[in-house]
Amino acid sequence: MSAAGPPQSARPPLGGGREATSEGAHWRARSLAAVWHPCTQMKAHETLPLVPIARGGGAWLYDFDGRRYLDGISSWWVNLFGHANPRINAAIASQLATLEHALLAGCTHAPVVELSERLAALAPPGLGHAFYGSDGASATEIALKMSFHYWHNRGRPDKRGFVSLEGSYHGETLGALAVTDVPLFRATYAPLLMENAVVPCPDARGATGGRRPADVAIDAAAALEAHLDRHHATTAALIVEPLVQGASGMVMYDAEYLRRARALCTRYGVHLIADEIMTGFGRTGTMFACEAAGIAPDFICMSKGITGGYLPLSCVLSTDDVFAAFYADDVARGFLHSHSYTGNALACRAALAVLDIFRDEDVIASNAAKAARWAALAAPLAAHPRVRHLRQAGMIVAFDVATDRPDFARRFFAAALERELLLRPIDRTVYFMPPYIVDDAEFAALVEGATAILDRE
Ligand SMILES: Cc1ncc(COP(=O)(O)O)c(C=O)c1O
Repeated sequence: MSAAGPPQSARPPLGGGREATSEGAHWRARSLAAVWHPCTQMKAHETLPLVPIARGGGAWLYDFDGRRYLDGISSWWVNLFGHANPRINAAIASQLATLEHALLAGCTHAPVVELSERLAALAPPGLGHAFYGSDGASATEIALKMSFHYWHNRGRPDKRGFVSLEGSYHGETLGALAVTDVPLFRATYAPLLMENAVVPCPDARGATGGRRPADVAIDAAAALEAHLDRHHATTAALIVEPLVQGASGMVMYDAEYLRRARALCTRYGVHLIADEIMTGFGRTGTMFACEAAGIAPDFICMSKGITGGYLPLSCVLSTDDVFAAFYADDVARGFLHSHSYTGNALACRAALAVLDIFRDEDVIASNAAKAARWAALAAPLAAHPRVRHLRQAGMIVAFDVATDRPDFARRFFAAALERELLLRPIDRTVYFMPPYIVDDAEFAALVEGATAILDRE
């Protein structure tokens, strides 16, 4: 393929050509020619398998050639209750029969109203105003713009700076990327990005030599305090991923940091934005990660699990104080941000079905028991000679791998596929974040598969 250059967009004929020896190969070839895949150096697919998925069911994805893959990463952290979940399917189908979508400017509909009420009731207290977007990054953009605009409306236009944590990830659009600190995603676009301050991350792996994770958190909070003390007059908001920084490698930290960050933000008059796009909807054990610290942010961003992995939807909840700053006769004081699919009725209905499942099946309580079993099943990994920092936050289990191989992640991914597992390490961090419905045997298969790959690789 390299000699011939990149795949061209013309469609190869069905069944024709060397690649098209099976239905899977056929879709693979057509995809490589026509689809520009996300977060991917497309040339890597000359050697890295692209997996054509024919269907999903439960925690499994099935290809066209009779193979199946255990979705150990919830299809990029979105799936909670399995693929083709009958309850969510039925909810979307019934919504489809009445209203698929109506614009949310000047109109409203039952699913978006019900969802807003229920999210506000579940979120930390005081967050009663729901503004909708589509993907996670659009929620980040909304929260950043709202925070800046709040200060502007309150006569503090100088408060336009943002602070984020070392290793933060908040999405790929330009505003979200500005508060992201993952060089691979950010560096190329740096000239396009607004300035952002980065403060130390309270990474619990720094708890060595008798120090506890809470001690690391206290030190990191002191650095935040020093920053805010100097810059609060020009700072609009601190944005954090509560408890777990996903994209920088499942970096986990003590809830003490959130308590201190909340107190500092209040003291210095700076908003606290909790990006719960990955951590929300039970991923870290509680419905929202902020609950573990007993804090309420000024803005909470939600997406991913909100629809159980079915449809793109994001939501930013904010406080009465924020809402009031925009409520005026002057149109320009309002928050005029919009996306065409804001509050899409099908997506909201899927989200309501997800909340029904949480309620009816007491998911948070049964997940607590499940998380304890996962801890026991994963425990032997700690003794593996190449495993470092085995860690867990609720339904996320992660560990680092001692390896010199720069291509570790892609080799592991390919080796996992051979074992019917869909696992995508982040650099040298392997993690398990399956849908909540996996049973103990399936979780054990993730652990056994990863162990076998580490033994061989
Ligand atoms: C914490 C966090 N914020 C924001 C995003 C961006 O979400 P999306 O990819 O849906 O734009 C992600 C995605 O992984 C995330 O983990």
